[in-house]
Amino acid sequence: MATINENFLKLQAGYLFPEIGRRVRSFGAKNPDAKIISLGIGDVTQPLAPVVVEAMKKAVVEMCSASTLRGYGPEQGYDFLIDAIIKNDFNSRGVDLDRSEVFVSDGAKCDTGNIQEIFGLNNIIAVTDPVYPVYVDTNVMAGRTGKADKNGQYGKIVYMPCTAENNFIPDAPEQKVDIIYLCFPNNPTGAVATREILKKWVDFARRNKAVILFDAAYEAFITDPDIPHSIYEVEGAKDVAIEFRSFSKTAGFTGVRCAFTVVPKQLKAYTKDGRAVEVNPIWHRRQCTKFNGASYISQAGAAAVYTTEGKKQCRQIIDIYMTNASVICKSLTKLGYETYGGVNAPYVWMKTPDGLSSWDFFDRLLQKAKVVGTPGSGFGPSGEGYFRLTAFAKPDDVKEAMQRFASI
Ligand code: MLT
Repeated sequence: MATINENFLKLQAGYLFPEIGRRVRSFGAKNPDAKIISLGIGDVTQPLAPVVVEAMKKAVVEMCSASTLRGYGPEQGYDFLIDAIIKNDFNSRGVDLDRSEVFVSDGAKCDTGNIQEIFGLNNIIAVTDPVYPVYVDTNVMAGRTGKADKNGQYGKIVYMPCTAENNFIPDAPEQKVDIIYLCFPNNPTGAVATREILKKWVDFARRNKAVILFDAAYEAFITDPDIPHSIYEVEGAKDVAIEFRSFSKTAGFTGVRCAFTVVPKQLKAYTKDGRAVEVNPIWHRRQCTKFNGASYISQAGAAAVYTTEGKKQCRQIIDIYMTNASVICKSLTKLGYETYGGVNAPYVWMKTPDGLSSWDFFDRLLQKAKVVGTPGSGFGPSGEGYFRLTAFAKPDDVKEAMQRFASI
C-alpha cells in the first residue's frame, strides 16, 4: 500500500494564485465580453530587453553547432554569470563574495521553497503575517508544522504580524526561533527595511544562532538611496543570512527562469549535539543531487542584464512599472483609499473600503470594475481587510483600471 505524505493534507485550500485564476476564469466564462484587467499576480508584461534577447539568440545559435553546443553546465551556474553577479550586485555595494557562495538557479520560488530541506525538522520557523505563501507551504509539506487553526495559521510556526500600526515591519518574536523568513522590499505589503532594521534582525539571529532567509527578489525596485539592496550590506549578516535574488521581475524573466541564491561560506547551522556545520557545502550537495543547472540560454540572457546596455534597458522597463505604481497610489489616494508601498516596491497594498473582507472586495472589484487584484487575507490573517495590486500590468491597463476604480 502506497501511503501519502499526510503533511500535504494539512495545506489550506489551493495555492493562492491558481485559486484567483479559477475564480477569474469562472467569471470570464459567465461574462465572455468582459475585458478583465489583471493587477493580480505579479507577472511581467513588458518584452525582454533587446540586449537580453540578442544574447539568448546568440546562445541558441551556439546550441545549433556541435563545436559550440553546451550540454549539462555546472549545477551552480556558469562563471561568466556568477562573476557578473558578484561584481555588479555585490562588489558595487561593498560586499565581497566568492564564486562558490553564489548558486544560480531557475527561480527564487524554487530556492525559497527548497532551502528548508537542508534544515532539521525540529527548527521553529518565524514568518511575517502577511507572507509570501511559499515559505509557509513548503514547511507544512516538509512536516515542520502542526495543523492549521481556524485562521489558517499552522501550529509550531511563529507568525509576526505586520500591519499599518507597525509600518508592516515585524517585531522580533519573544520566543526563541531558529529560522526567520524576511522579504524586503516586501511582497505583498511593499514595505522596505532600513539598515537599522536589518541590523536588528542580524543581531537577533546572531544572538539566537538562528538563520535568516532573506528574499530580495524585488531589490531592483528600491528608489530610496538609503535602503540596502542586500542584507550583506549589514555587518555580520554573512554569519547568519542566506539571500535570494531573481531575474524574474528585475529583467522580466518570469517565463525565461533564472535566479540565484547566496550562501556565505561562514554561515553555520548546528547538529542536535551543538556541533557547528557549514551550510554552503550542504546546499551545494543538495543542488548537485537534485538540480542540473539553469539553462545555458537563460544564463546567457541573464549575463546580458549586467552589460552597460542591459542595465540601461532593464532600468527603463523597471521605470515603466514604477510609474504604474505611482499612478495606482496617486489615483487611489485621490479616490480616498488608504495605500501603502508602491514607492520602493512594485506592489501597492491598500485597505479595503467599507470594512469589506479581502475576498468580498475581490468579488466587488471583479463584478463591478472587471479588475483583478489579490486578496490580502490570501497572504495570512493580518492581511485580512487589505488588498494587493501589482504594478506589472501594461500602463494603459493600469490607467483604465484606475478609471474603473472610480466607478465602484
Ligand atoms: C506574486 O504575485 O506574488 C508573485 O508573482 C509570485 C511569485 O513570484 O511567485
